[in-house]
Amino acid sequence: MKKQKRYLVTAALPYANGGIHLGHLAGAYLPADIYVRYRRQCGDDVLFICGSDEHGVPITLGARKEGISPQQFVDKYHELMKRSFSDFGIAFDIYSRTTLPLHHQTSREFFLNLYNKNIFIEETTEQYYDEQEHLFLADRYIQGICPRCGYDKAYGDQCERCGSSLTPRDLLQPVSTLSGKPPVLRQTRHWHLPLQRYENWLRQWILHDHAHDWKANVLGQCKSWLDSGLQPRAMTRDLDWGVPVPLPDAEGKVLYVWFDAPIGYISATKELRPDDWQRYWQDQDTQLIHFIGKDNIVFHCIIFPVLLYAHGGYVLPAQVPANEFLNLEGEKLSTSRNWAIWLHDYLADLPDRKDELRYVLTALMPETSDSDFTWKEYQARINNELVAVLGNFVNRVLVLCKKHAGLQVPTPGSLNPLDEKYLNEVQSLPSLVAAHLERFRFRDAQNAMMEVARLGNRYLAETEPWKESDPQRVATVLYTAIQLVACIAVVAEPFLPQTAENIRAMLRWDQRYSLQQIAFPLLRAGHPLAEPRLLFRKFEDEEAERQRNKLFQSQSTLPAQIQEPMNLCTYEDFSKLELRVGTVKAASVVPKADKLLQLTVDLGNERRTIVSGIAQHFSPEQLIGRQVCVVVNLVPRTIRGIESQGMILTAEGADGSLSLLQPAESVPAGAMIR
Ligand code: 2FM
Ligand code: ZN
Repeated sequence: MKKQKRYLVTAALPYANGGIHLGHLAGAYLPADIYVRYRRQCGDDVLFICGSDEHGVPITLGARKEGISPQQFVDKYHELMKRSFSDFGIAFDIYSRTTLPLHHQTSREFFLNLYNKNIFIEETTEQYYDEQEHLFLADRYIQGICPRCGYDKAYGDQCERCGSSLTPRDLLQPVSTLSGKPPVLRQTRHWHLPLQRYENWLRQWILHDHAHDWKANVLGQCKSWLDSGLQPRAMTRDLDWGVPVPLPDAEGKVLYVWFDAPIGYISATKELRPDDWQRYWQDQDTQLIHFIGKDNIVFHCIIFPVLLYAHGGYVLPAQVPANEFLNLEGEKLSTSRNWAIWLHDYLADLPDRKDELRYVLTALMPETSDSDFTWKEYQARINNELVAVLGNFVNRVLVLCKKHAGLQVPTPGSLNPLDEKYLNEVQSLPSLVAAHLERFRFRDAQNAMMEVARLGNRYLAETEPWKESDPQRVATVLYTAIQLVACIAVVAEPFLPQTAENIRAMLRWDQRYSLQQIAFPLLRAGHPLAEPRLLFRKFEDEEAERQRNKLFQSQSTLPAQIQEPMNLCTYEDFSKLELRVGTVKAASVVPKADKLLQLTVDLGNERRTIVSGIAQHFSPEQLIGRQVCVVVNLVPRTIRGIESQGMILTAEGADGSLSLLQPAESVPAGAMIR
């Protein structure tokens, strides 16, 4: 008998300070889920581990901003994220959290193990401290002038203009992004992991041993970290939120969030399998696979492996199939600007389109470079692929079977060479899907899955059973075609689990196969069938437009999420804005958009068309003749097919009502606002 393989699959523990958005899904959770479903189909022993990452500075700041304790804050977001994942059907074996006592204990023990082996270097250094906010500043919360290129908004860890890797002390004129004040240097003692001592080992393990089986984007990032010289990294922080450092003289210090978070994978496994968790972490037969986004590569390929190696006795990751980023409508996702599609919003709006989202995100998966999600693409993929190819094929076959054979698989005559040719071609596809999945090529894998339906449609087009007069030939063609439908139910399962179940329900078929085992015939003549039902509905223009509008409007109106540090706006930035007073000359409701008004605004020497999301606060009549403040040099944006050439400024009241900003006294149209 084949030996069962053992896999421990993890997906990055998301910070409990917001929701899950489509970027998260496409980056880590969806590929992990597809992979795990595939492994389960293979009959492998697989655990799928995830949970909320509940420590770190952003959590404390988020809590402060919401006026609640960090524990209340993470309780709230943990529940939100856990529910989104489960509503969406991500098949974790456990979704845990890092504030659990078991996790604290596991992290403390891990730290003490390394401490007792003298792995850490204890060092007192000077670090920037924000005297107003009373905290030591994480590198990301310090901004200043880049010493290399002069960019005035470089962060304490990196200049995003020239790409230089920096330390806070490199910055000229540093400012705390929390208080806006220059920070002061204060002495503090920490325990550092001397990464540089592991450089040779890392080079051998990553760049040699995994040179041929890790993804190029992952190897590339590792090489560049190694080539730029590894530095010691503090594994502790001055903070009152996190796992307290388990040493007698370490009051007010906690473990660095990137020390305890990956240990969260171990704690969650212990929670799930208290009696045999070691089999998954300490038996060298386990394949440990970390699904992450590209910003997590250094932590999963360098820091955590060094911790595991230094501790000893643990398996190392066999694979870290990191993805790049998913952009949204041509722009980088930004949680602080609310430029994101949140999974809980998506599920509230489109609850019966889960597989559609899985399909589109897999088709656009940023496997080798960043990719772009647009609602237009989403619509096109659903209509042209799921509806027109997959749904259409399955439906045609089932409707024809019903018509010609009653609700059962027809009894065929002998198959002719054409039938055989198609069956043979299809027969090779499940193992092609599997081969792609083994190499983490999800786009190609899904494409190979769709090829079964494409071949099916081609087969129907060639055989034209609806024109055939010989009933036995019709039966043979439909018998052949329904084998392909059954094949889809198997190969689609990792990608489109609900659709696979829906097909199985119509086929009244529960026989399970791995992709490697599929052999025709899957369904015997006379096998009973259920009533055909459509698998997918078209996504109409109006729905696509509604989602686009929602995205563009939520960007400016919703309060910022907490994840990114506040950005200071320089004088130079502000002076780029051109603000003028205008007079509204005409106003009308944009058809089928309940929030939008189309305005014509007189700016003295010109008139502008502006689409504004204020229809729920003002009627067109209330606006005509009013003076308004307008941002006039924004890049025009097309909303509902209308080019909007500016933005009207409003202020939001405590109850969410909007009032128009306008000059206290009337001024000529076009007057500059300074
Ligand atoms: O980037 C993030 O969202 C981190 N919370 C990921 C942690 S992954 C693991 F180490 F827990
Ligand atoms: Zn720079």
